[in-house]
Amino acid sequence: MILYSSTNITESACPATSGSFSAGDGWIDAEEDWVWTIILHIMFSNNLPLQLTSFIGREREIAWVKRLLTSSDSFAPEHGPSSSPRLVTLTGTGGTGKTRLAMEVAQALQDSEDTSESIFPDGIWFITLAALAPSGSVAQALMTALDLREVPGQPPAETLVDRLRTKRILLLIDNCEHLIFQCVQLFEALLQACPGVVILATSRAALNMLGEVIYPVPPMDIVNPDEQLPLTNLVQCKSVRLFNDRAIRVHPHFAITDQNVRAVTQITRYSSFVLGHLICIIVVM
Ligand SMILES: Nc1ncnc2c1ncn2[C@@H]1O[C@H](COP(=O)(O)OP(=O)(O)OP(=O)(O)O)[C@@H](O)[C@H]1O
Ligand SMILES: [Mg+2]
Repeated sequence: MILYSSTNITESACPATSGSFSAGDGWIDAEEDWVWTIILHIMFSNNLPLQLTSFIGREREIAWVKRLLTSSDSFAPEHGPSSSPRLVTLTGTGGTGKTRLAMEVAQALQDSEDTSESIFPDGIWFITLAALAPSGSVAQALMTALDLREVPGQPPAETLVDRLRTKRILLLIDNCEHLIFQCVQLFEALLQACPGVVILATSRAALNMLGEVIYPVPPMDIVNPDEQLPLTNLVQCKSVRLFNDRAIRVHPHFAITDQNVRAVTQITRYSSFVLGHLICIIVVM
């Protein structure tokens, strides 16, 4: 009989932490380790936050980044590099959609983990550095996100390398731009010592480190406001769809009509590079 306490999730409950899971306070039969491992894998194989708004388009970008992260030596050269890079950085100015794209890629990979052979059996983990001060510790932020305990007397970066050395894990590390120097040092240490660690980073500026594949996030497709496209064709355009979707959330009776179509296409044209602006414009409309 297995007794599981959802309130008692300790460091040992995280698959990223160690090879063996302890029985905590004795609320699990140690002989049932394999069941425990399966339960933990299902419950803790990722910490990807659920998204509260719909995601529009980016099919090509998702497929490309996914392929970059999972390509193997047998991968056809015309489709991309011959072996899988272990650091892919999504770059672009603020609001281009880097975080959202990275999340969708991670979620798509997580969904394939659940249905086919696992590429990242130790999970897919989201770590945001957005709120971390430039004086903060990136290694510590990763330790916290992975629920790893510090080892007294050992620098967090060393503990992290030790614990991830044998793991096959994807780390989505968001908003690296204000901590580039620290990220480069830590990522180098992780990638050199931990062969199963793959990093998907987002940053307004590239890290410019060896082995990094930089993927500049392109703007969403746009329409020329002077083009007289029928409304049905217009809503195929991703930035117009995003505008329409978000506008309806703020003004439930909003609709793209012959009267406002030019204004909508102009707004989407000017803000497709910075989707955050597009969303702000809708909120103040
Ligand atoms: N394809 C998309 N579909 C729907 N919403 C999107 C899409 N891409 C981005 N967004 C939304 O646009 C806004 C800006 O995107 P995001 O936060 O990903 O930008 P960013 O490039 O990470 O910005 P920053 O550099 O400030 O971190 C967010 O509200 C996000 O949810
Ligand atoms: Mg971001």
